[in-house]
Amino acid sequence: MKAVILAGGSGTRLHPLTLVTNKHLLPVFDKPVIYYAIEKLVDAGVTKIMVVTAPHHIDSFVRLLGSGQHFVPKRTTAKQIQIVYGIQNEPNGIAYGLFIAEDYIGKDNCVLFLGDNIFLDDITPTIQKFKKGASVFLKEVRDPKRFGIAAVKRGKITSIEEKPAKPKSNFAVTGLYIYDNTVFKKIRKIPPSERGEYEITDVNKLYLEEGSLHFNLLKKEWFDIGTVDSLHKASQFMKKQTRK
Ligand code: G1P
Repeated sequence: MKAVILAGGSGTRLHPLTLVTNKHLLPVFDKPVIYYAIEKLVDAGVTKIMVVTAPHHIDSFVRLLGSGQHFVPKRTTAKQIQIVYGIQNEPNGIAYGLFIAEDYIGKDNCVLFLGDNIFLDDITPTIQKFKKGASVFLKEVRDPKRFGIAAVKRGKITSIEEKPAKPKSNFAVTGLYIYDNTVFKKIRKIPPSERGEYEITDVNKLYLEEGSLHFNLLKKEWFDIGTVDSLHKASQFMKKQTRK
């Protein structure tokens, strides 16, 4: 399965750290943020990845990651990791970022990975068993108003809302999604939201309406590198983890 890593965004909450660089290039302990996403995908057997970012940052990503030569394939007979690049001209949403990769994905299923998310759980079984519909990864959080939130009843998602004022649960929909190829038809159907973005939550709602939105509960730590605090916490965690 191919993967798309989104690495755009202006990172305003991280100013001045992100005034001249992109947040996915900042260090978390001993590696740039985006390395964690690539390594997680590579560990799960993914070998073909498109990194989507803004035009003014693309050269930094190419210098850092090249064609993927620093990464070694796992669980596959493929001889190399192949990284290619997509450009998102406007910050017009996560769903639009995936849409840019439509031709690259072709007829396959795909993984969408928000490059500022760091996962500790092993995602290999979910990726390898995936057949159709959509699969999301939920994590219980203390500040549900900051995320896409899923309500769950009897083992099924019953609703999903983007940054709700009155959250129905504490289950955040994290930045990792597995989609079948109908995702591109669904992206075409959704209008931009009030903040002018094509929301991934609206795409997930279409899967929910179809009865094909599945979920996994994350058991280990998950970081969303959106603030100085989370950047710092993730760095400290990784430092401890490496010492073990
Ligand atoms: C995005 C998604 C949100 C999700 C979050 C995970 O929000 O819109 O549904 O919970 O990523 O990191 P953003 O961080 O872009 O505001």
